[in-house]
Parts: sequence; C-alpha cells; structure tokens
Amino acid sequence: MGSANSVQELSGNVAVVTGAAQGIGEAIARRFAAHGARVIIADKQLDKAERVAQEIRAAGHEAQPAYVDIAEPENVRALRARVRDIYGPVSLLVNNAAVIPFQDFLSVSWDDWERTLRTNVSGTFYCSRVFLNDMLELGRGNIIIMSSVNGLRAQTGLSAYNVTKAALIMLAQTMALELAGRNIRVNVIAPGDILTQVVENVEDEVKALANIPLHRWGRPEEVAETALFLASARSAYTTGSVIACDGGLGAQLYPS
Ligand SMILES: NC(=O)c1ccc[n+]([C@@H]2O[C@H](COP(=O)([O-])OP(=O)(O)OC[C@H]3O[C@@H](n4cnc5c(N)ncnc54)[C@H](O)[C@@H]3O)[C@@H](O)[C@H]2O)c1
Repeated sequence: MGSANSVQELSGNVAVVTGAAQGIGEAIARRFAAHGARVIIADKQLDKAERVAQEIRAAGHEAQPAYVDIAEPENVRALRARVRDIYGPVSLLVNNAAVIPFQDFLSVSWDDWERTLRTNVSGTFYCSRVFLNDMLELGRGNIIIMSSVNGLRAQTGLSAYNVTKAALIMLAQTMALELAGRNIRVNVIAPGDILTQVVENVEDEVKALANIPLHRWGRPEEVAETALFLASARSAYTTGSVIACDGGLGAQLYPS
C-alpha cells in the first residue's frame, strides 16, 4: 500500500475533490492520492472527510480534509485560502459534489428546484472560477466535472437533477474552449448506476440491473479510474469531452 509501490502519475499536483467524504468522490480522492497528488477532501460532512483523509495518510499518501458547502460562495473562497495555506495553488479540481433529489416535475417545489441548481450548477461554476485563479497562476490546470447519464438522457422522477447534469456538460464544453489556449483542460464524466448510497435506495434491483447492458452496478473505483485517466498526461489531447462510465446504459434506445 505504501507510496513507494505506487505509480506517481499525479505527483506535483494539488487536487481538490468536492463531495469526497463518501461515494464516487471518496474513491477519486483515494486514487489520486495513491498516484502522488496531494488531495483535499472537500465536503460539507467534515467528520467523514476527516476520516477519509486520515485513512489516506495512514496508507502513506497525502490528504487533508476541508469543510465546504459549494452552494455558498464565501465557503468556496475560504476553501481556496485554506488549501493555499496547506498545499499551495491547486492544479487539479474535481467538481463532484451534488445533491440528487428524487422528485418528479409535478412535485418539485421552487425551493427544491433552486437548491438543486444552486448546488449542482452554480456551485460547480463557482468552484471552477475560484480555483481557476490558481491554475492561471501556475500556467496549467485540469478540471473534471461529474455529470451523469442523466445529463444526456432524461430519467423520470429526477427532473431538476437531469437539468443540472445537462447544464454541467455545456458548462464544461464552454470552459474547455475558452481555456484551451491557457493550458487548462476541462472534461466530463457521465457515470451510470454506480454503487453508492444513491443506488442503494433503488427499490427494484433486479429490474434496474436488467436494464444495464453489463448487468451490474458500476463501482466508485471504476469511475475513479476514468477520473485518473482524465487527470493524467495519458489524456493530454482530450478536452471538452464527455466520457461515459455506465456499463452501456447510455448507448441503448431500449433495454434488450
Ligand atoms: N451514484 C451514481 O449512480 C451516480 C451516477 C451518475 C452520476 N453521479 C454523480 O456522481 C457524484 C457523486 O455521487 P455519489 O453517488 O458519490 O453521491 P453521494 O451522495 O454518495 O456523495 C455526494 C457527496 O457530496 C457531498 N455534498 C453534497 N452537497 C454538497 C455541498 N453543497 N457542498 C459540499 N459537499 C456536498 C455530500 O456530503 C456527499 O459526501 C454526483 O455528482 C452525482 O450526481 C452519481
């Protein structure tokens, strides 16, 4: 487990992963740290973020926890100041934190709609804006945005969420174009059904799995592998891309 055995593909990077206290973000943080990045576990669940950071350090890698509510601009600015104090300027940002309210179009309230857009879209926009200052200072940078198959195809019962995940794709592509000349890449991951707390709530597992061409849930570690590819020089010619990690879910018109 020690760093001596790890491939140090991300050494020299300071990475912020939002929503890294659990689920997909946690897996990405662990993978990035194992590959040599110094990682900030940024989440509004500070106790869980502390535990994840501690476990990463116990494995011989570098990580520190930090509180942030990405829906609050002053929190995001404070996060940047804290990260600079600990590790210096950020070269790698994973915008992963999101809320996933299961509400259909006829039941979603104004407040829930606003909260979902504010967190998922405005929070991602603002984290990107704030940490871009570090990347411009460094003359290099890499931003990964966590969308979803729901950003490409509508799923009933997730009305506001679907809209935010589609908006994130256009945000990323616009940023990718505008930042390409500044040595900053921006890409999107579109996961399918990944085994985290979100999927654990699915009522009819047999039916859900039958709809997935690979007939199983994805694992957070598999999304982390996609994130590592996008974060590393292996994807040096890739920007403005949407990479699915979905067991084929997004490719089909109807389940066979
Ligand atoms: N699990 C899936 O099947 C799946 C599929 C497609 C996309 N995704 C996306 O992957 C990302 C992670 O999903 P997950 O399944 O790991 O979710 P999760 O709910 O297990 O974890 C999300 C984390 O984000 C944090 N968070 C939420 N709001 C925050 C805020 N305002 N500020 C800071 N932190 C906040 C939570 O505390 C939590 O630790 C999300 O963007 C989600 O939309 C997940």
